[in-house]
Amino acid sequence: MSFPTHRPRRLRTTPAMRRLTAEHRLNAAELILPAFIREGLTEPNPIASMPGVQQHTTDSLKRAAAEAVELGVGGIMLFGIPAERDARGTASLDPEGVLNKAIRDVRAEVGDELVVMSDVCLDEFTDHGHCGVLDGNGYVDNDATLEIYGQMAVAQAEAGAHVLGPSGMMDGQIAVIRQALEQAGHANTAVVAYAAKYASAFYGPFREAVDSQLTGDRRTYQMDAANRREAILEVELDVEEGADMVMVKPAMSYLDILADVAAMSPVPVAAYQISGEYSMIEAAAANGWIDRRAAITESVLGIKRAGANMVLTYWATELAGWLKETR
Ligand code: PBG
Repeated sequence: MSFPTHRPRRLRTTPAMRRLTAEHRLNAAELILPAFIREGLTEPNPIASMPGVQQHTTDSLKRAAAEAVELGVGGIMLFGIPAERDARGTASLDPEGVLNKAIRDVRAEVGDELVVMSDVCLDEFTDHGHCGVLDGNGYVDNDATLEIYGQMAVAQAEAGAHVLGPSGMMDGQIAVIRQALEQAGHANTAVVAYAAKYASAFYGPFREAVDSQLTGDRRTYQMDAANRREAILEVELDVEEGADMVMVKPAMSYLDILADVAAMSPVPVAAYQISGEYSMIEAAAANGWIDRRAAITESVLGIKRAGANMVLTYWATELAGWLKETR
């Protein structure tokens, strides 16, 4: 009678054994909650395509931030939805504009207890919905956009953001933002570069979340889903330009990219579990097709296992609550 040399099942015999031998585990501290604030709202506004996620008022945003702190969440990423939009996204530069004000309000609420991050991008502020300004042919003008990003970054740093998240995929954006920050005396404001950000169908619900004005797509600036090698170039460029952290986005359809980036990046790697990834799981769970909590936990663990040091997820606070229960 011959026996198997290894019986991997030995390490799966009890919950305690599985817990002891787990290669990866989730921590609230590495989760980042993306949050939306909309100018002029008197009540939080539910986002139909993202059940459980809302456009916040100032008060509800502050409460969400305080709750995140309470549960040990690592950070919050703020997106603003302005009342007025124009071709150049001017409202993004107003110190009293929706996003800059939200940064100040959240900082006043949480101080340094939560890492406060903000989106540096024009798509929420332009009346055409693109991430930059357009030239005469309707093409997103890279270098004209960079000038505005530099000013936007300084305004957000002045408002108190700890970390800026440029998500527009313009070439050279990290260098321009870094230089603008240094010149304005914000040497300690960090930058998480959306380095490998793909043009994705899974951003659909986010477009509802920010009342996006976009018609068409972002394929002239976001990456093509067919490309793997190119992600390495994007990360290398952003690190050279001074990125303190890099991000891969979306997460679940791009775990190969995440693993590649995790293997080569000299700086911490974030992954963004985006709106469509959230909505798919919520929809399947609402239909009773999957176990909601188990599916959420597994999806975020998969992103971590692929190499993410940090995960942006709309479930950050809820997940942090579960992690506390099971400690
Ligand atoms: C652009 C931005 C987008 C997301 C984050 N930042 C939308 C886009 O590129 O179209 C998507 C996030 C999500 O889908 O959850 N400011």
